[in-house]
Amino acid sequence: MPTRTPQGPVGTTGDSNLKNSWNRVIYACWAPVYDRLIGVRPFVRARRNAIELLNLHADDRVLIVGVGTGADLPLLPTDTEIVGVDFSRAMLRGAAGKLDVAPVQTQLIAADAMSLPFRDRSFDAVILNLILSVVPDGRTCLREVSRVSRPGARIVVFDKFLNTRTPPIWRRAANLLTRLFGTDINRRIDALLQGTGLRIVSERPSAFRGAYLLIELRHESC
Ligand SMILES: C[S@@+](CC[C@H](N)C(=O)[O-])C[C@H]1O[C@@H](n2cnc3c(N)ncnc32)[C@H](O)[C@@H]1O
Repeated sequence: MPTRTPQGPVGTTGDSNLKNSWNRVIYACWAPVYDRLIGVRPFVRARRNAIELLNLHADDRVLIVGVGTGADLPLLPTDTEIVGVDFSRAMLRGAAGKLDVAPVQTQLIAADAMSLPFRDRSFDAVILNLILSVVPDGRTCLREVSRVSRPGARIVVFDKFLNTRTPPIWRRAANLLTRLFGTDINRRIDALLQGTGLRIVSERPSAFRGAYLLIELRHESC
């Protein structure tokens, strides 16, 4: 029987310019207001587009990494099996509040996105919405996604990335502030993907005039 409440150990692994310890504090603060912040139409539309890209089938097992307050849950086909992972119990409580509008087989697990507590090749699809710009080591997170998804799995990313080699000065300055609030605006998806066994199959501008991107990934072997 699937568990419908947050459970399990919360691990911590290495960090870069964002730290799990700080993110935990920040996302506990965001949790009560998060749904209002991300409930705006461009985000909802982008989520729908991301889920459409996954082309989900009945009984697909879908992993949502950094599920947060579960904004994706009500948009998913009801006949899929969902596993949502997040290390913030405050954010997971928000997701637990949406279980009545989520697919029946939805499980929420407290765990670190950089050390996923799942067997190799155990998911048919993965959703990475607004997590790769937050998790301290996005490459380790993607390596884990590569490991736990089966070859041929559909993987979708909705997030903000740098589209130049190096960030302009204003963006570096702005990043000092955004990192305080738990997000890095200067990551490059191509750099994060290196050595993960995943590749980009499509990429297109998404919310807020392309400030966010919608990216489809697959295993390099597929
Ligand atoms: C910006 S929110 C995005 C939430 C959700 N994916 C969405 O689209 O609304 C980032 C989420 O990542 C979670 N997070 C940050 N670092 C994490 C880590 N190391 N392991 C698991 N979750 C993490 C935060 O707790 C937060 O819920």
